[in-house]
Amino acid sequence: MYISLMFLKTHINIPDFNDVHYTFAASFKKNILTDMKILVNDGIEPIGREMLENAGFTVDLNKIEQAELIHKLNDYDAICVRSATKIRKELIDACPNLKAIGRGGVGLDNIDVEYARLKGIAVINTPGASSRSVAELAMAHFLSLSRFLQQSNREMPVNGDSQFNQLKKAFAAGSELEGKTMGIIGFGRIGQEMARCALGMGMNVLATDPYIQRATIAIGPEGLGIDVEIITVPLEDVLVDSDYISLHTPSVGKPVIGKEEFTQMQDGVILVNCSRGDVLDEDALLNALESGKVAGVGLDVFNNEPAPRKDLLMHPNVSLSPHIGAATNEAQNKIGAELASKLIAALKK
Ligand SMILES: NC(=O)c1ccc[n+]([C@@H]2O[C@H](COP(=O)([O-])OP(=O)(O)OC[C@H]3O[C@@H](n4cnc5c(N)ncnc54)[C@H](O)[C@@H]3O)[C@@H](O)[C@H]2O)c1
Repeated sequence: MYISLMFLKTHINIPDFNDVHYTFAASFKKNILTDMKILVNDGIEPIGREMLENAGFTVDLNKIEQAELIHKLNDYDAICVRSATKIRKELIDACPNLKAIGRGGVGLDNIDVEYARLKGIAVINTPGASSRSVAELAMAHFLSLSRFLQQSNREMPVNGDSQFNQLKKAFAAGSELEGKTMGIIGFGRIGQEMARCALGMGMNVLATDPYIQRATIAIGPEGLGIDVEIITVPLEDVLVDSDYISLHTPSVGKPVIGKEEFTQMQDGVILVNCSRGDVLDEDALLNALESGKVAGVGLDVFNNEPAPRKDLLMHPNVSLSPHIGAATNEAQNKIGAELASKLIAALKK
């Protein structure tokens, strides 16, 4: 067999022996898995669907309404959801055939995770897929605020043709980020990606996290880059010594940044919150903006979503986005690919 394949390979263009061997193995596994059906109820990127189908699964993209799932989900071996479909105890009990639940994205609030795992069902999510996108949005807010783009973009359409020179003067005192200190509060997946962005811009990085003591951040292109070791410091050091502060903690039941923390910050600090709205005390933030303690703030998340307070939205020193941190094509593709590869691994066990 090996000899004949080697002979053929010299005469016609076929994959090498290892590839052929792999193909045999893959098609064997594919036959085992063709009986397995996955319901994709809230959509998946084409790459995720392709990976699941190539692995031999039957993928059904036809949404089943929540009320109908209890009668129909047991026909499937796995379900993929985002946030819309709820997988509660009652539904899990009605589906003894279910082997895996995949959630595209981070939060698992719509799934009774503990109960599903107790029943031997694998529960999968994709927490790291959007980290780069969130960090880049935070960096976009920092860059925007450092050059008053949030104001310039409001003023130029209205007055740019009549007051060009006045606007030029008004927005003249911008700042470079290079050489400044970026303080990162919450040094998990997104916080570390933020550090990579900041180091790449030539900034110093100070990070704080009660559970992470150190992390190695790889910067630069693969093969040409360098690793930078960052040892975390107490929160107070970050507050006192940073020119820019980026928030990347989960909700912890009370604001991580409030009146007391603002007092410790440098005058004219620039702050960005792309984590969760309740991480920041918005009353204290408005006071800090009014007093000039905070020169500008970038907000992707708000206390009262989807109806954030107007005084914050209208403030000239606020750069705004409507909770779009993870909303890039790249993040969505990474979510689809990560979800598919984790589901394949779980179902092949
Ligand atoms: N804007 C968006 O669209 C968007 C998208 C994805 C995630 N998020 C949010 O970003 C935040 C971070 O996500 P992640 O994936 O990096 O999470 P992660 O769990 O990887 O990291 C969070 C880190 O915060 C640390 N932490 C907890 N309490 C802290 C405190 N009081 N002070 C300092 N650090 C603290 C934790 O130890 C952890 O290391 C979460 O709130 C998440 O919901 C927002």
